Amino acid sequence: MPSELLKRIKETEWSVPKHVAIIMDGNGRWANERGLPRREGHRAGMRSVRDVVEGAIEAGIEVVTLYAFSQENWQRPRPEVAFLMSLLKSYAKSEVQDLVDNGVEVHVVGDIDRFEAAERKAIDTILDMTRGGERLQLVLAISYGSRGEIVRAARRLAERSASGDLEAAAIDEPTFAAELYTAPWPDPDLMIRTSGEYRISNFLLWQLAYAELYTTPVLWPDFTREHLFEAILDYQRRERRFGKVT
Ligand code: IPE
Ligand code: IPE
Ligand code: MG
Repeated sequence: MPSELLKRIKETEWSVPKHVAIIMDGNGRWANERGLPRREGHRAGMRSVRDVVEGAIEAGIEVVTLYAFSQENWQRPRPEVAFLMSLLKSYAKSEVQDLVDNGVEVHVVGDIDRFEAAERKAIDTILDMTRGGERLQLVLAISYGSRGEIVRAARRLAERSASGDLEAAAIDEPTFAAELYTAPWPDPDLMIRTSGEYRISNFLLWQLAYAELYTTPVLWPDFTREHLFEAILDYQRRERRFGKVT
């Protein structure tokens, strides 16, 4: 049954966001509320990932970036980190065929070198198998921190400059952005954060410069494609000015 909200999205004259970035937050609180261990919240959050990916395709979004694990999240208790890593591996395994069938191409941004061989292998497999998907680009931010990404870009530019490949005076915004993990995709138009928090938590600091921000109290495991559609409808009512006058 086509969703009422989806119909409204398609009927308005305003376009859908090309790129939606999501901070998937609130798994632990969702579990706490139910007297369950935190890991059950993470497990439940996987259902939301599946639903949101399908909803994004229905809505005609081109790129979805999901913040799945931050650089700072490495500091969580070891059993929780280990569980998140096992979830990543099982996601790669159990979802890959559906992703291929749905035309989803998966990408990963973040400091992958911190992963163990088994996780890197799972990532490589999902990247290889989904390569060529044309309906949706799904970017997973894992072991990702935006400050780290920016410093890495600066280091790469410094190296190019030192080797004589690039003049310092030639470094401009596009040159800089080209060294970020996210170089292949346009900046996010809409950034959603679940669980009622109003902060960026080291996510896409450069790329979110002109994104529309949307926060919802809904905890990530309760977030469905209908909530995504609500966020898109809200976005379609915004007036984006980019510093100009209309
Ligand atoms: C988001 O949920 C998932 C990750 C950060 C890996 P949290 O685990 O942060 O859940 P809360 O914020 O403690 O409820
Ligand atoms: C941000 O959530 C990271 C992810 C969703 C992966 P956190 O729960 O780690 O962020 P803080 O600690 O509330 O800022
Ligand atoms: Mg959190």
